Amino acid sequence: MVVTAPTEAAAGGIVIRPIRPEDGEAWLAFLGALSPATRFKRAARRLEDMTPEGVRAATDPDPRRELALVAAPQGANELCGVARLLLADDGLTGEFLLVVADRWQRRGIGGRLLDALLEEAARRGVATVEGAVLGTNRGMLEFVRRRGFAVEPLAPKAISVHVVRHLRV
Ligand SMILES: CC(C)(COP(=O)(O)OP(=O)(O)OC[C@H]1O[C@@H](n2cnc3c(N)ncnc32)[C@H](O)[C@@H]1OP(=O)(O)O)[C@@H](O)C(=O)NCCC(=O)NCCS
Repeated sequence: MVVTAPTEAAAGGIVIRPIRPEDGEAWLAFLGALSPATRFKRAARRLEDMTPEGVRAATDPDPRRELALVAAPQGANELCGVARLLLADDGLTGEFLLVVADRWQRRGIGGRLLDALLEEAARRGVATVEGAVLGTNRGMLEFVRRRGFAVEPLAPKAISVHVVRHLRV
């Protein structure tokens, strides 16, 4: 799938594709360049393992456990966004993680990554996709709402909101 962001037409467009083992260096550079605000908003409960084993696991995930897509400028060794779906043991439920590099945000890349992730999840028979979004991350809450996720009310004292979308009828 090729996505052409009008402002980046000169860069030849953005490709959405599965992550691959050769992405190790680009993945580390992508993570290293994330601003503190973007890191905070991710609300990731899992910290990335940057050891060689961790990089291998992140760039060559076991397809029974994880589905991982990246957005990459065509022909460049760079990643501008990463979307993952961490699958439960039965493969029917998955938790999504999504982050777009600061300089690429608000250009439609996150939307395309999440759409592609949901499409691939449905193709693989995943029934439910869920995630945790910081209650203060209004942009992301609006973003997932528009994609058909139900946003549960923020529980007392909780900082993140559970969002869920059912893919099967
Ligand atoms: C949230 C995120 C993944 C969205 O990706 P993106 O490529 O920036 O989003 P898109 O350009 O596809 O925007 C889609 C819509 O999301 C909403 N949105 C995204 N970021 C927003 C922000 N900072 N403020 C308000 N709305 C925002 C808007 O509705 C936007 O539509 P619009 O541009 O037509 O107004 C990305 O901004 C990001 O990585 N943010 C920091 C980390 C994060 O919040 N991750 C999600 C953790 S659950």
